[in-house]
Amino acid sequence: MKGVILAGGRGTRLYPLTYITNKHLLPIYNKPMIYYPFSVLMLAKIREVIIVTNPEDLQNYKILFGDGSFLGMRVYYAVQDSPRGLSDGLMQSRKFADGDSVMLTLGDNIFFGHGLPEILKKGVETVKKEGGACVFAYYVNDPERFGVVEFDEFGSVLSLEEKPKKPKSNYAVTGLYIYDETVFEKIERLKPSDRGELEITSLNEEYLKEKKLKVEILGRGFAWFDAGTYDSFLEAGEFVATIEKKTGLMVGCIEEIAYRNKWITKDQLMKLAKNLEKTDYGQYLKKLAETI
Ligand code: DAU
Repeated sequence: MKGVILAGGRGTRLYPLTYITNKHLLPIYNKPMIYYPFSVLMLAKIREVIIVTNPEDLQNYKILFGDGSFLGMRVYYAVQDSPRGLSDGLMQSRKFADGDSVMLTLGDNIFFGHGLPEILKKGVETVKKEGGACVFAYYVNDPERFGVVEFDEFGSVLSLEEKPKKPKSNYAVTGLYIYDETVFEKIERLKPSDRGELEITSLNEEYLKEKKLKVEILGRGFAWFDAGTYDSFLEAGEFVATIEKKTGLMVGCIEEIAYRNKWITKDQLMKLAKNLEKTDYGQYLKKLAETI
């Protein structure tokens, strides 16, 4: 399975913050926003990742992640020349996917919770074994901001709607999706929505029509943020700061995950720490290499 991160779009809901900076490079406490969805793919043990972004922002991502070898990974890049929707963004990764299944994360989504790696593993295994798609739902008090999933009394999915005025449930579809290899044929068949975008919800509806959509609920023990508005951006940063200060452990530290995944050696981690020696981040990496 391969990983895809969408880091395009205009980020208009965060203007003027995003006037010159791509949204996913803005800081969530002490790291660029994109580190968090990137780390989700790493927790799912996905080692080949493509970042899809706007032409004008491509270079910044290349500086940030390079070819991925510092993490023992391979990182690739694709351009979405204009924000025609999430499914269109995903389409830009077709060549990279090369017939494989994909895990898609939205560049502004942050997940935190005990057992996340196991949940990801289960989703990956299900899609690999049975095909279809797996998405993750989370109970929110403002479902009209999101894709919304409606369940029947037995927990089967009845419908999906993108930003409904009258949501049929409080379950938002989060920005983490696992698709089998038929995903690109399905995107080819999609029609733009009323707002002119190829929606991710339309893609998920294609799987639902075929009865091949699995929805896993992320329970109350999880925290999920879509950091795309002023308030959620601030909340996500405050949340990460609180957790990190309480535990002394970082959330979304990509070098740490690479090391714990055994994708890089102690020596490699030490070198990364040395390059950042004068920073708290570098000190954290150094301590990790010395103690684990
Ligand atoms: O966060 C979860 C929600 O994400 C889902 O519940 C919705 O179903 C889904 O449509 C999406 O809604 P948003 O309104 O949050 O999508 P947004 O336009 O913010 O785009 C999500 C990310 O994808 C964002 O980080 C920018 C990037 N993007 C967006 C578009 C429209 C692209 O890379 N290309 C695009 O064309």
